[in-house]
Amino acid sequence: MTVAIEMGQTTAGAAAAMDLEELLATRLLVQGNSGSGKSHLLRRLLEQSAPWVQQAIIDPEGDFVTLAERFGHLVIEAEDHTERGLQVAGERARLHRVSTVLNLEGLDAENQMRRAAAFLGGLFDVDRDHWYPMLVVVDEAQLFAPAVAGEVSDEARKLSLGAMTNLMCRGRKRGLAGIIATQRLAKLAKNVAAEASNFLMGRTFLDIDMARAADLLGMERRQAEAFRDLERGQFMALGPALSRRPLRLNIGPTATSPRNSTPRLMPLPEATLEDARAVILAAPPPDASRPQRRPAPDLLEQLRAAKSAVPESRPEPIEVPVSAEELAERRERVDRTLRAVLAAPDAGFRAVGVLYQEFVVRCRIEGLGAAVPDLTEFRRMLTHARAGLGTDISGDDAWQEVMLRASILPDDMQGVFMMIARAAKEGWPCPGDAAIARAYGSHSLRRAQRLLGYMEEQGLIVCQFDGGGRRFVTLVELAWATAPGDPNADDLPAEPVQSAAPA
Ligand SMILES: Nc1ncnc2c1ncn2[C@@H]1O[C@H](COP(=O)(O)OP(=O)(O)OP(=O)(O)O)[C@@H](O)[C@H]1O
Ligand SMILES: [Mg+2]
Repeated sequence: MTVAIEMGQTTAGAAAAMDLEELLATRLLVQGNSGSGKSHLLRRLLEQSAPWVQQAIIDPEGDFVTLAERFGHLVIEAEDHTERGLQVAGERARLHRVSTVLNLEGLDAENQMRRAAAFLGGLFDVDRDHWYPMLVVVDEAQLFAPAVAGEVSDEARKLSLGAMTNLMCRGRKRGLAGIIATQRLAKLAKNVAAEASNFLMGRTFLDIDMARAADLLGMERRQAEAFRDLERGQFMALGPALSRRPLRLNIGPTATSPRNSTPRLMPLPEATLEDARAVILAAPPPDASRPQRRPAPDLLEQLRAAKSAVPESRPEPIEVPVSAEELAERRERVDRTLRAVLAAPDAGFRAVGVLYQEFVVRCRIEGLGAAVPDLTEFRRMLTHARAGLGTDISGDDAWQEVMLRASILPDDMQGVFMMIARAAKEGWPCPGDAAIARAYGSHSLRRAQRLLGYMEEQGLIVCQFDGGGRRFVTLVELAWATAPGDPNADDLPAEPVQSAAPA
């Protein structure tokens, strides 16, 4: 039996198939400049082959975690595990034949290399009884097998290069089919690239990459010039699993989308220079890779600056006057629409831009076309909704105070702060790390802890633990405190997002 998966169409309109069994017996190299469509291609390949074969994805940017939703991949947050832990995880993934995404997002180069190497090592070292076929996809492979020494330690480079060489040179016997993608062929270690016998070449501009590609494919350099003219999503295919002659094909659509989709052009928000100053020059977020202590900033000074940035009154859009009832009814419908958008199970992890697009579409369907909040307003509503607040809390003085304090934090942290503030105000247990991470749009528990640390450094909160290891948070100056809560609790007790409609 041969299994052919469909990658897309040839430029002549015929189906372009890839022979999966042939691929498992060989290896694949994908190259193309940034934006040429490599990650999209890998996603298509993974989606099409998911029903047939186990997969592991080394994912430096966290692009592929969305495969989990539809195809059931286990997402492993590399940040949360030691090298030893990841090696064992690699072995177990093979033993139990579970498809995995190793998310290396948020780690520095050194740790990305070390942890990817550990995980690949686990896949590689497993006992002979478990040498089932498996696709191992490495996106941005030049990060893990760089052609020249970079700024990382020699040890990290050796580990990572060794693991990649094993994958590409010695993996086949063990059932591991390496699939690697790179932006710059010239930056990828030669011995790693040389083992591939299938190629998908995308748009390439630099002569040095073109020359390497021509060498690898055994083409004349002049022929390789054609790579310049390829469009996004177009690749030249060659190799036993693909085509015996260079074949130009268009990669087909995918069922899932990357978590961070390409930015779209949008009208710029209208803001005064003073607003802009306060927003752009607000306190920087914590350094994700190397948390460091810094002197506590002058909170009052920052609050004053933030306050002057809050416009005294928002200019009303010019429109036909509507009654207070109509306004309230409209607001309730906007609220309901927001709740519907946030009800999706993955809503907590999607980029604001993506959520906003969905929100706008739903608003239009609801007939709210003219009353759709702009992106800035949407962010504010989102922050409140994620904190479990309605959109209209302007009447509550205590909340005004909380919002003022929140405004010294970067936008994406404000929701987390408001969520904690709400728990404190109501005397609920302090949310666990998982709930905090989710409100921040992340899966990483470490990041949740760092966020709390940052807010504490900013002088907004004080974190304490009781005798039982449960955490409670007190808001500085307001003296609201949460009840003690288990930091490892799976999630918040489900708390419905409240309606914002005035009673
Ligand atoms: N065949 C295609 N059909 C439709 N959209 C595509 C196709 N290929 C790529 N795109 C879109 O083009 C954009 C860039 O593609 P992608 O992220 O795959 O590029 P890349 O080569 O991985 O770039 P980088 O090297 O910067 O990661 C994405 O928004 C992607 O959805
Ligand atoms: Mg990419």
